[in-house]
Amino acid sequence: MIIPPIKRPINKIIEVPSDKSITHRAMIISSIAEGKSTIFNPLECYDTHNTLKCMEKLGARIEKKEDKIIIHGIKKLNSSQLDVGNSGTTLRLLTGLLSGYEGEKFILDGDESIRKRPMQRVIEPLACMGAKIAGNNGNAPVIVYGKKLKGIDYNLEIPSAQLKSAILLAGLNASEKTTIVEKNPSRNHTELMLAAFGAGIKHGGHHNHHENIELVPSALKGRKIKIGGDFSSGAFFLVLGALLKNSYLKIENAGFNPTRTGMWNVLRKCGANTGFTKLRSDNGEAYADIEIEGGNVLKPFYIKTEQIPLLIDEIPILCVLACFIEGESIIEGCGELKYKESNRLIAICEELSKLGADIEILGSMRDIIRIRGKGFLKGGQVFSHGDHRIAMALSIALSLSQKGGEVLGSDCVGVSFPNFFETLRGLTK
Ligand code: S3P
Repeated sequence: MIIPPIKRPINKIIEVPSDKSITHRAMIISSIAEGKSTIFNPLECYDTHNTLKCMEKLGARIEKKEDKIIIHGIKKLNSSQLDVGNSGTTLRLLTGLLSGYEGEKFILDGDESIRKRPMQRVIEPLACMGAKIAGNNGNAPVIVYGKKLKGIDYNLEIPSAQLKSAILLAGLNASEKTTIVEKNPSRNHTELMLAAFGAGIKHGGHHNHHENIELVPSALKGRKIKIGGDFSSGAFFLVLGALLKNSYLKIENAGFNPTRTGMWNVLRKCGANTGFTKLRSDNGEAYADIEIEGGNVLKPFYIKTEQIPLLIDEIPILCVLACFIEGESIIEGCGELKYKESNRLIAICEELSKLGADIEILGSMRDIIRIRGKGFLKGGQVFSHGDHRIAMALSIALSLSQKGGEVLGSDCVGVSFPNFFETLRGLTK
């Protein structure tokens, strides 16, 4: 994709596609809830199509209408062979859920990238619950032999919402309570949706400054869910809006769950002019119309390890932001980026360097990013590494650069944001 530089201010109201994490959970949880669920405005993208196909194969009855999906849940999911494509969320969440379906056998596999993503972190706690899961050296394909599960008391050492969700979904079918203690809280969409569908789940309060989540085995009841925009998709345009002088951008109906908006707080701390209106809630999820004005001189930022789960998917675009802020910005403790759709640590550093950025990976664990922002990028040709968020972050970098350039392998934006380039082009029309 050729990306020209944007040379004039923008002044637009846009919407971004629906939230990917919430859509996955709505599809999975509706499929095991008693009766009918209606999902309004689900995200249509490669990843969520894969989840829907998996749930259909497992036996859920699905009707697709124009802007909604109706799912008739079933009690027992059938043995099947599932293709999750590129979707880590589908792979992790389903591995957890399916491990409790006694007597059934499930094979889960996906594309080349999915076969490189760590599964041992999911297999280990599930095995403690009594699950029998065979992985290929800790990777997909995984074979899940459904077993009767026990509850677990688990300290989530890796701050991963996918891991937490896999354990919670397994806990639904266990014989007793499951407790998860989270040191650095990660996105809580699974907890909110399980509560909305009637599960016995609560925050057992704080425990030595850690979050404590308790789930009792529960049957779920179908319901209606209305999904709003994905904050992570909006984040790309927030950076554009913040950096283009005399610009104004409003994103209507954007996800505003505080476990997702860490990047919003970074923008505010940098000195960006932000605001929000129409704060509302659907099944416990917050949404708002969010606004940003461009042109303030921004200060560099320092992101600490405990903030990472709240902005994990925004790190590539935060690196872009840092390039355009004069001075040194630091992102600490972001080693989890190595295990995303690509090795995002390497991908973003390599590609932004090609555009003239001073960006380096530091630390004995190689998990700190230092960007010495110059206030500009030159432009040039870059590669997506087959990763949607890298492709979109680089496209924003080129839009803000002096000369613009080209993103190779840009089709992968369809993984989460199929009309990303139309939305980007629309800003200057
Ligand atoms: C997701 C959780 C995050 C995020 C991913 C989606 C989810 O991963 O990076 O894009 O839907 O649970 P981890 O929290 O597992 O690192």
